[in-house]
Amino acid sequence: MTAGNDAFDLIVLGAGSGGYACALRAAQLGLRVALVERAELGGTCLHRGCIPTKALLHVAEVADTAREAESVGVRATLAGVDLAGVHAYKDRVVGRLYQGLQGLVSGAEKITFVQGDGRLAAPDAVEVATADGPLRLTAPSVVLATGSRARTLPGLDIGGRILTSDEALRLETLPDRVVVLGGGVIGVEFASVFRSFGAHVTVVEALDRLVAAEDPAVSTALARAFRRRGIDVRTGARLAGATQDADGVTVTVESGDPLRADLLLVAVGRGPVTQGLGYEEAGVAVERGFVLADERCRTNVPGVRAVGDIVPGLQLAHRGFAQGIFVAEDLAGLHPTPLDESGIPRVTYCDPEIASVGLTEAQARERYGEVTTYEYHLGGNGKSQILGTTGFVKLVRRGGANQTGPVVGLHMVGARMGEQVGEAQLIYGWEALPEEVAALVHAHPTQNESLGEAHLALAGKPLHAHA
Ligand code: NAI
Repeated sequence: MTAGNDAFDLIVLGAGSGGYACALRAAQLGLRVALVERAELGGTCLHRGCIPTKALLHVAEVADTAREAESVGVRATLAGVDLAGVHAYKDRVVGRLYQGLQGLVSGAEKITFVQGDGRLAAPDAVEVATADGPLRLTAPSVVLATGSRARTLPGLDIGGRILTSDEALRLETLPDRVVVLGGGVIGVEFASVFRSFGAHVTVVEALDRLVAAEDPAVSTALARAFRRRGIDVRTGARLAGATQDADGVTVTVESGDPLRADLLLVAVGRGPVTQGLGYEEAGVAVERGFVLADERCRTNVPGVRAVGDIVPGLQLAHRGFAQGIFVAEDLAGLHPTPLDESGIPRVTYCDPEIASVGLTEAQARERYGEVTTYEYHLGGNGKSQILGTTGFVKLVRRGGANQTGPVVGLHMVGARMGEQVGEAQLIYGWEALPEEVAALVHAHPTQNESLGEAHLALAGKPLHAHA
């Protein structure tokens, strides 16, 4: 069966965040879209990533709240975490969003959803193995949006007691001891969940700090907070091997004693899904598995674009959405402005939360030479004291102490600090001067006030802080 040249303006291969956003926006703009997906509409973010993991992190917060209830005078105790109930809640959340998304796509007249395994057959053609047989779709534009999957290491086969985040989302029994391999974003989020669920957790990270993409001050604060929570943080620890038996898994690191656990969670990064999909055969430039694309998401092959986790850069759903929307608008002739990747906000939802936008101090020094920094500690923030959290807001400003310049990096650690990232992103995106932000009245008492206080201090007029 073929769907000929006049059927579609655009084929989107992969219906995750990047792909479905592109399809929806393109359809809004009047383009006829074929959206091809082999698994479920919504992709990693909805089914195996952002949404289910943040549901688990919410459960973790509820468990911790019950645990801490007595300390604020509420008579309650944590009797335990019932995983069946946790999964039912998580699946309800995912199910509601999935239903909504299915409704959006099926309601979009210009989108044809094609279920099946797709493959780039030519720069203007995608072949799909559907349940009803092969289908060849053609269109002048193709958007590759096939996403990423959990990586593992050579000799570390996933199965049994050795899992990735995919399997960790479907555990049937609570582990007593967990080793988390990798102290990146997935590693610290799952370490946080397992700890809140009552497990003994060890994080094994090869680099000398957790969340190494963040400013080092963030890594230090997180490691300290994790240790206070009883999480065993081992940095500078490279995995030597892991073996499993009926009772558990033994994890050996290059230095130190072997670790024994019920489970080993492998969180050493996510690799692009680009192999065996016809990309290279069609002439698309692929490097270390990633599809190379310019700022307009164009590959080297005319007519073929790429968005989301297959393109080198931040592997974040909101980057995928933004790229997908950009491509749709570009194809529709709206001449959108390419995405400023440096302004993409980052939030890691462990306890304490991490949120950041822009450059770390070291990156800013490298780019601008002289910079000024200020760290405002949450000890002076009323709402933080109410919530019982510690942490800080660190600002990185361009220019020396006696100059003024815009804030080029904002780094935050503390309970619920992810919710502050919206203002942080405006400050960064609008190249705000500390004096301008300091002139804004921040609501009291909020966590958000800490952003205001940090800017007041940087502008030389601290209120609840030292200059
Ligand atoms: P990652 O790249 O953030 O972290 C992987 C960590 O594993 C690194 O710190 C690395 O040094 C360590 N590692 C690698 N090999 C090792 C070894 N042999 N021994 C010990 N440590 C080793 O990757 P992660 O955490 O798997 O996340 C994948 C992607 O998913 C990231 O790009 C992340 O941005 C995204 N993601 C984002 C979330 C968010 O925005 N909240 C949540 C979850 C994932």
